[in-house]
Amino acid sequence: MLLLVALPPLALAPSCGKSPPVSIFPLVSQEEIAHGESIYAGNCRPCHGTPEQGNLPVFRPLVNERIVNADPLKLAGVMLFSKHHRQGPDGPYLFADMTDEDVACVGNFLRSRIGSDQAPLRAKIVERAREIHEERDEGVQPEP
Ligand code: HEC
Repeated sequence: MLLLVALPPLALAPSCGKSPPVSIFPLVSQEEIAHGESIYAGNCRPCHGTPEQGNLPVFRPLVNERIVNADPLKLAGVMLFSKHHRQGPDGPYLFADMTDEDVACVGNFLRSRIGSDQAPLRAKIVERAREIHEERDEGVQPEP
């Protein structure tokens, strides 16, 4: 409620959908981002190159992937269970053993490289992404 009072009058102007990119830094610490960056360097960069440059011609820069700015559950799900991250059609997923915290940090590192207007990833969300994946595998319909 207080927020409304603090907003400058311009915020009421019809600029729907045009607000500038939001930094996730007030919500995520520099330490988390740095941790995510080092995990990225060891686990993702060998294939994807840097998030900005990619590894062309095969890997487009990840910062251009819409999924990097998708909602946290989607991004976590893709990192863990993208078909591209599977070793063979029925093989294990590359990052299945990564901790929920580490997956969240990598996602937030990628987010920090773009102006993301989505909520940061959190370990709880990553855990939920795993549950949803298991439910799908078992043919259980996720709750609406
Ligand atoms: C063994 C190679 C390899 C590694 C390692 C790897 N990826 Fe991928 N990834 C792929 C391929 C192949 C694709 C599909 C081609 C593309 O989109 O560039 C992909 C696609 C993606 C996408 C786009 C979504 C999709 O399903 O198309 C994201 C986001 C992504 N990877 C994130 C990561 C992150 C984060 C890591 C590190 C934790 C990582 N990848 C490590 C091979 C890899």
